[in-house]
Amino acid sequence: MTNSFNTKEIIDGLSGEDIFSTSIGLTYKDFLVLPGFINFNPSDVELETNLTKNIKIKRPFVSSPMDTVTEAAMAIALALQGGIGVVHYNNTIDEQVSIVKKVKRYENGFISDPVVLSPEHTIHDLDKIKEKYGFSGIPITEDGTQNTKLIGIVTNRDVDFEKDRSIPLSQVMTKKLITGYVGMTLKEANNILKTSKKGKIPIIDAEGKLVSLVSRSDLKKRREFPDSSKDEQKRLRVGAAVSTLVEGRDRVAALYEAGVDVIVIDSAQGNSIYQIEMIQFLKTNFPGLDVIAGNVVTKAQCKNLIEAGADGLRVGMGPGSICITQETMAVGRAQATAVYKTASFASKYKIPIMADGGITSIGDMANALAIGASTCMMGSMFAGTDEAPGDYFYENGVRLKKYRGMASVEAMKAGGDKRYYSESQRILVAQGVSGAVAAKGGVQNLIPYLSQGLKHSFQDMGYKNINELHESLYSQQLRFEKRSEAAQAQGSVYGLYSYNKPAMRGE
Ligand code: IMP
Repeated sequence: MTNSFNTKEIIDGLSGEDIFSTSIGLTYKDFLVLPGFINFNPSDVELETNLTKNIKIKRPFVSSPMDTVTEAAMAIALALQGGIGVVHYNNTIDEQVSIVKKVKRYENGFISDPVVLSPEHTIHDLDKIKEKYGFSGIPITEDGTQNTKLIGIVTNRDVDFEKDRSIPLSQVMTKKLITGYVGMTLKEANNILKTSKKGKIPIIDAEGKLVSLVSRSDLKKRREFPDSSKDEQKRLRVGAAVSTLVEGRDRVAALYEAGVDVIVIDSAQGNSIYQIEMIQFLKTNFPGLDVIAGNVVTKAQCKNLIEAGADGLRVGMGPGSICITQETMAVGRAQATAVYKTASFASKYKIPIMADGGITSIGDMANALAIGASTCMMGSMFAGTDEAPGDYFYENGVRLKKYRGMASVEAMKAGGDKRYYSESQRILVAQGVSGAVAAKGGVQNLIPYLSQGLKHSFQDMGYKNINELHESLYSQQLRFEKRSEAAQAQGSVYGLYSYNKPAMRGE
């Protein structure tokens, strides 16, 4: 005889509504998702998600608009792997636009941002580049930038036996060039590489200006990126942050021209008349351009920004690893509560939530998605990678890269205070700190690791995609449990004399 179970009898744990209706704000570490039923493999999990109402990406990873996190290299690496980078605006409009253009121009296999020298540079300058980057096939343009005509190329072979390293490159460079033309496919460019037996082929436009390079050494390591985030014209997607200040309006106009896919209005407290006016300005003047507004942490804040026309909301006030907003201002919200409350409201209007800040592990990401977020925005997770801006340095023998809050005194002095309404104030009140994180290697390794980890987590929860997970959250089928401090301690490693923490890149 088989037992018949009463369905009520097997309901266990708490629903999202139960767990977040308590008066205490919760973080990702304060709860767990209870396991579901497994009848599929991790490879069956799809991580596709909505970045905004209109833009879908294949993986829910977004890099923060911070000057130690997202510039061209980060945005390219993330978009290739199905996420997206949001370029910071602690720079001039021209600089931000040029970063966006680099991403939009990027083609897998073509180096769109090559190191370039002028004919006046010397062999010694070439030596320094070789020392720093390890390569030597350098294109020479009239003024040493990509804005003027290509006039030569200089390789090791041109300078190997030259004793006088102060000789200008104009005297040693190869002027008879084999070039490719802009618009040619990678296959065509590779064919030229093969038949010419050259190490590098410069690609030029109709005016003879250098557009990119194709390199023989890259030919072998080239990978395909089937999940990449691309627009209708098959260009990589990229976002850019702007402030609510008048300057932000000029930025948007220039970024729109450059082909930016989404604008993130960057403000620590997004529920303001300035932001509402900014959204309205954007919606009137650039109707096709998606806008992520924020930051918000309450339903009332969401209502105002959704009403103004936001296509997505960025959620978080104070959870960031470099952030001292809650300490300085006593305003904010614990991040998991913020995500659940805003998502449960915004989901009714089909506005996706980006959980921003405080994510330190795959578990935090899984929790953010389980309580309603559609994407995860991360700063410290991507800081310290090869693609993050800035050079590595050593402290006590450890290889590090700088990571700083955009409201740290250091970043504000460099122009990052536009997010905190303090543009005209003389006394800088920091809401962030400046520090360093350990070197993590390439984002190209980190993202597959994060994706694979998330897929395992989805399998344990019993859901094959983010949609299913959200449906089950709101139908209260998804069950949670709060963690006492003792439960948290038990869920971590304990009782060992020493152990090795696994690196965030898989083995
Ligand atoms: P993390 O991923 O925990 O490192 O947090 C990154 C997030 O912190 C960013 O996406 C911003 O929302 C936020 N943030 C950046 N700079 C500051 C700051 O100076 N003070 C407070 N929050 C910041």
